[in-house]
Amino acid sequence: MTDLALRGPLYTLLDDPFLNAAEDCVVYESDGLILTRDGLIRAVGDYSKLKDQLPDGIETRIYPDAILLPGFVDAHIHYPQVEIIGAYGAQLLEWLNTYTFPAEAKFNDPEHARTIADFFIAELLRNGTTSASVFCTSAPPSVDAIFEAAEMRNMLILAGKMMMDRHAPADILDTAGGSYDDSKALIERWHKRGRCLYTVTPRFALTSSPHQLELAGALMREHSDIRLQSHISENRAEVARAAELYPARTNYTDIYHHYGLLDERAIYGHGIHLSEGELRTFHETGARIAHCPTSNFFIGSGLFDIAAAKDAARPVTVALGTDVGGGTSFSMLQTMSEAYKMAQLRGISVTAAQSYYLATLGSAQALGIDDRVGKLQAGYAADIAVLDPQATPLLALRADVAETLDELLFALMICGDDRAIQATFVAGELVYQRDGRP
Ligand code: GUN
Ligand code: ZN
Repeated sequence: MTDLALRGPLYTLLDDPFLNAAEDCVVYESDGLILTRDGLIRAVGDYSKLKDQLPDGIETRIYPDAILLPGFVDAHIHYPQVEIIGAYGAQLLEWLNTYTFPAEAKFNDPEHARTIADFFIAELLRNGTTSASVFCTSAPPSVDAIFEAAEMRNMLILAGKMMMDRHAPADILDTAGGSYDDSKALIERWHKRGRCLYTVTPRFALTSSPHQLELAGALMREHSDIRLQSHISENRAEVARAAELYPARTNYTDIYHHYGLLDERAIYGHGIHLSEGELRTFHETGARIAHCPTSNFFIGSGLFDIAAAKDAARPVTVALGTDVGGGTSFSMLQTMSEAYKMAQLRGISVTAAQSYYLATLGSAQALGIDDRVGKLQAGYAADIAVLDPQATPLLALRADVAETLDELLFALMICGDDRAIQATFVAGELVYQRDGRP
């Protein structure tokens, strides 16, 4: 690994600005320096204070007009769904049956899985996303494909085999016992190999029998350091169906709670229609929510109430996810923009600091990886996104009149997308460089 020095304005959050004053959370250096060694950040801070530590002859990259951020963390994304992004006209259950399940069946071919996994990882990096929590399909080779692609770039990726034993086409169903055995074998093969982290992945209550959820709970009990990802309360018809399928449970959250799937290792996509009591259970158990606004708008699922979720009286840990291919963009900037608009429709104006927090440290915290990624801090991985606030003529014009850092960062997340990612570093290596302006 080559050691590097990156010089330029840098911005990072050290704490949650939903729950603390922004000035206690944000670190900004107008002329910053990051020194990397062996893939980690060795030192970070004001250039003038750190320049004496620059080793002789170290490769230095200077980005005077950019903003260096920790790489984005996408807390919820489906790699087998890239081919169905922008599929017309259906809400969740019909969308799954019409588009999603047939697309996932194609991953029974490992060659297809490898092709899409390579595309997917490259697309993450083109968008400045250096870590993600990824849903695969029920076919174990789909998990091998994504971890192999991530391992080649030394990326921290969380991923798991979809557990689903009912209410979907036979060619993508597993069985309760088979899903347990497959997950166990994948944990042994991949968990903590390099930066890979296996994640137990029951799709949602509608496609899992009670026995399968029981076995997902057994996997969580047997592996204390394994995370879990799933979906909850995204769509009203889904909520009603969950109640029909699990009549003994008091609500949707209680289904997962009952099977031991609700604790600080668990992250659930969406949570739009959770009741106050369910949010309280999330708070009490430490379970997390991945907010996926581009998906919620596109599939017409509803408006997540971020203020209710983050209520300081019983805050729930909230992350930000793209949910591609229900979501419509790989760009976490676009995702922050849509999260802002969704909150506006709920009467709340999320700040720039809160938005960048959600997309970096907040998602890292929700995924339990905030001890190694999500911040520009000594000892953390040198996973870095270089943002160009002048990436397009419109952004350049807007940046020119921005009077404060917050105004600049806010306009960048509202109007920015993959074009605003100038470069991406993973574990101290340059893994993406935008054409034209290195
Ligand atoms: N709920 C269960 N499966 C899925 C999925 O693949 N995408 C979304 N958005 N919601 C789901
Ligand atoms: Zn999803």
